[in-house]
Amino acid sequence: TDQALVLGIETSCDETGIGIVRGRTLLSNTIASSMEEHARYGGVVPEVAARAHLEALQPAIDRALAEAGIALADLDAVAVTSGPGLAGALMVGVGAAKALSVSLERPLYAVNHLVGHIAADLLTGDDVEYPTVALLVSGGHTSLLLVRDLTTDVELLGETVDDAAGEAFDKVARVLGLPYPGGPEIDRAAESGDPTAIRFPRGLSRASDMAEHRYDFSFSGLKTAVARWIERRQAEGLEVPIADVAASFREAVVDVLVTKALAACDDHGVPRLLLGGGVIANRRLREVALERARAAEVDVRIPPLSLCTDNGAMIAALAADLIRSGRRPSTLAFGADSTLPV
Ligand code: KG4
Ligand code: ZN
Repeated sequence: TDQALVLGIETSCDETGIGIVRGRTLLSNTIASSMEEHARYGGVVPEVAARAHLEALQPAIDRALAEAGIALADLDAVAVTSGPGLAGALMVGVGAAKALSVSLERPLYAVNHLVGHIAADLLTGDDVEYPTVALLVSGGHTSLLLVRDLTTDVELLGETVDDAAGEAFDKVARVLGLPYPGGPEIDRAAESGDPTAIRFPRGLSRASDMAEHRYDFSFSGLKTAVARWIERRQAEGLEVPIADVAASFREAVVDVLVTKALAACDDHGVPRLLLGGGVIANRRLREVALERARAAEVDVRIPPLSLCTDNGAMIAALAADLIRSGRRPSTLAFGADSTLPV
């Protein structure tokens, strides 16, 4: 059972992810995204995402099986994200996973999306060590976790109290007139800007905030500050220096993320930091995290981007580790839980 052949289904947001693993070995990782359908709305539309999953699931499963060179009947278990995420989107994956489990007569593992992101690290082929602090940043979540044991002891230290970091990138991009998704656009624009040009606020970072919200994040104040700054500038009839705004905004987000993640490492005496989520693609975030972690003697791990963004392989990997640790499968009596705790 150390080498369970598991198919994982991920449909918590706009990515239909199907992954197949054998134990900690990645066999396939297929993604179908409905991102383009959401672009005209400037953000993920839950109803559109759910319908897209329904259409994309079966072809994605077929592709994943072909890529892995196996048949459905070869599988030892099925795994699925049951939350957190968009309720309607989750339901599509959960329904499909239950159908597969019943028809194949194989056990079903319902897993947590955030813990799945942490499990992505198992597939890198490197030795994974615990405890580790994990920072997960995407369009849907911004969470700081302390992982003492992947299958038994994952503690949520803090999370965003308003917008997710990726969401903040997307909203600020919109204010700047850049297309969706805004993260990569801002990242690109920022390269030629001055990160010290404008001092934007660092959310929940004052001494009083750090007492109560040491590991929590807030990005909506920052987003508003950027919008106000641009409005003032336009009211004065001045041109908006997009590169400088992008660089200064990016610096504010990155600064808070890295500062709080390294504070968690320091507080808990944990010299390891795992990064995950689509925002990890951000060049400045990688650079600052690596730089400051080196100074703090913290070892940073960043899985390849295909395993950092939402995917089914990480869900399969987590289930394979649960099987390896002797965990019993889920019964069929579970639903989709949009606020599922870790
Ligand atoms: O994990 P992910 O692919 O999926 C969901 O959140 O569903 O993350 C997508 C988010 C989007 O908000 C996108 O703007 C952001 O990650 N993102 C970035 C970059 N690339 C993607 N944010 C900042 N810099 C980037 N280079
Ligand atoms: Zn995610």
